[in-house]
This record gives sequence, structure tokens and C-alpha cells, in this order.
Amino acid sequence: MLKKHFKLISGTANRKLADEVAKILKIPLTPVEIKRFHDGEIYCRVLESVRGCDVFIIQPTSPDASLNLMELLIMVDALKRSSPDKITAVIPYYGYCRQDKKTKPREPITAKLVANMIETAGVDRVITFDLHVAQVQGFFDIPSDNLEVVPLFAEYIQNKKLKNIVVVSPDAGGAARARYFGKVLNAPIAIIDKRRPEPNVAKVENVIGNVKGKTAFLVDDIIDTAGSITEAANILLRFGAKEVYALATHAVLSDPAIERITKSNLKEVVVTNTIQIPKEKMIGKLKVISIAPLLAETVKRTHEGLPMGVVYEQMYKKLERKIK
Ligand code: R5P
Repeated sequence: MLKKHFKLISGTANRKLADEVAKILKIPLTPVEIKRFHDGEIYCRVLESVRGCDVFIIQPTSPDASLNLMELLIMVDALKRSSPDKITAVIPYYGYCRQDKKTKPREPITAKLVANMIETAGVDRVITFDLHVAQVQGFFDIPSDNLEVVPLFAEYIQNKKLKNIVVVSPDAGGAARARYFGKVLNAPIAIIDKRRPEPNVAKVENVIGNVKGKTAFLVDDIIDTAGSITEAANILLRFGAKEVYALATHAVLSDPAIERITKSNLKEVVVTNTIQIPKEKMIGKLKVISIAPLLAETVKRTHEGLPMGVVYEQMYKKLERKIK
């Protein structure tokens, strides 16, 4: 049972997810008016008092990343000026996260810039899912929870009851994620040697590890143009994999992702609903796992000052039981 003075607010980026969370928590979403001026500026007004409340705003910075980020900042500003007790920004997909370091001179580090903007706007705490790299959490000087979807995906894989599987990272940067999955599933891993000659172009040349005769599960954080996973699927099959599935937390799905996935050799592409997927992109190969139950539990526990560790322990225990 949620205490008094609790408010859940949704931006326009993923209203469906916010509705699911509100339903699980058995509370109505606090109404807000969000509209655009003719010049594109965003207007926001919270339609009921939030004075003294513990407020949670759900707003991923999904495509259009800049627009949704700006909407989040403006909503936070509207709230901050309305005397809440605390503001938690729930950002299931944290855009601008891939620019987390300088790889060439005179480049920005947008993952840090956006963290600064969110803090400056007046957010007290953030909740994210599967940041591109975990250390981005340290770009925030306010408390943050970066939730993993590994148990949700691991359960999905386990339910297929397949033998002889291999977990594959589509690039060296994702090796730690694949290793973690491999540990949870008690499966070997492989890594694809991917290079990026330019942004959004993926070139793969080699597979490190044995995939021959195995069902390969590619695990990644983001599917953007789907170049990485489709190229990876091709090379895995060339190296003798029996079949290839792809799992990724954030379904950005920029063009030509859907076309590439449709034409690809991928058996299934499993994503979550951190980003709301438009109807026209919901092709048959795409399976969506909802993060709403996990998010609802996190919001509830954050509000009540309870730890999340036990929830993960339970999820992993359940998986272990299935492995045995
Ligand atoms: C890159 O480091 C990320 O982890 C993803 O692999 C990448 O963003 C996917 O992009 P795309 O789908 O355009 O290949």
C-alpha cells in the first residue's frame, strides 16, 4: 500500500508504460497538460497540487531524444516550482548515453552533459534501465538506480528449454554484459569483432569463441538501426551457429531497422518496452517483454525507502531453480 503524498506523472514519451505501472500500483496518474506552441516550444502544467509529495515522472528520452529530454526538463521545472518533497526522474531509456567518452579530439560527452542538465533542472534521484555502460551512473551526483533486465531476458531464454546455447556480444564493449548473461544461464560466451567506420555503420569481421552447432543469443543494450545485430547474425551463421536470436533492452528502431530485421536471418528479436514501439514497427519477429512490474516495484520501494537487492535476489533464485 503506497503512503500518502505519492504522485506518479507521465510525459508523452511512453504513456503506455506509465499506465501499466500506475495500474500495478493501483493509483491514478497525476494529470498534466503538455502542449506545443506554434514555434515548437513545449508547455507543461501539473493539474493538481504536488506540495510536499514524493513525485515520480516517467519519461524516457526515446526518439525524438532531444524533444523528449526537453519535455522531461520542463516537467521537472514545473514540478520544482510547485514545492514537492522530492522529484525522481524515471528515465527507462537514457538517450545521449552512447557518447560517454571522447574517442576523437573536440568531441562532446553528452552522457555527462545530460546528467548535468537533469540535476540542474531539480531532479533529486534518477531511475534508469541498462545504461549503455554502467559507469554513466557515476555521471550523476544524485542517487541513482540503474536496473538490469538480465533476469527478465534470462527467464525468456530458459523458457525455450534449448540445449547447446551460446551468449554472444555483438561487440567488445558488450563483453561484460554477455559474460554476466552467460553466468546467469550457465552458458559459454562469444564476442563479435565489430568496428564502426562511422556512426550508425557496423562492420563485423570475426567471431571470438565457438558458436558451431549452437543456438546463439545476441545480447545488446540498444537496437538502433539494427546494423549490429543483423550483421552479427550473418557472421554467426557463417561461423556455423544453428540459429540466432537477438535480445536488447532498448528498441530505438531507427530506419531502416525494421526492414533489416524483417529481411534478416534472426529467428526472433526480443526487446523491452523502455521505449514505446509504434504499431507500424510491431512486426512478427519482434517480442516485447514488459518492464512495468519491475519498475512498479522499484518505484514503490524507492518511495518506501526499501532496498531493491532482495527483489533481484528472488528473481535470480527463481532462475536457479529453473536451471536445476
Ligand atoms: C553500441 O555500442 C550499442 O551497444 C549498440 O550495439 C548500438 O547502438 C546498436 O546500433 P545499431 O542497431 O544502429 O547497429
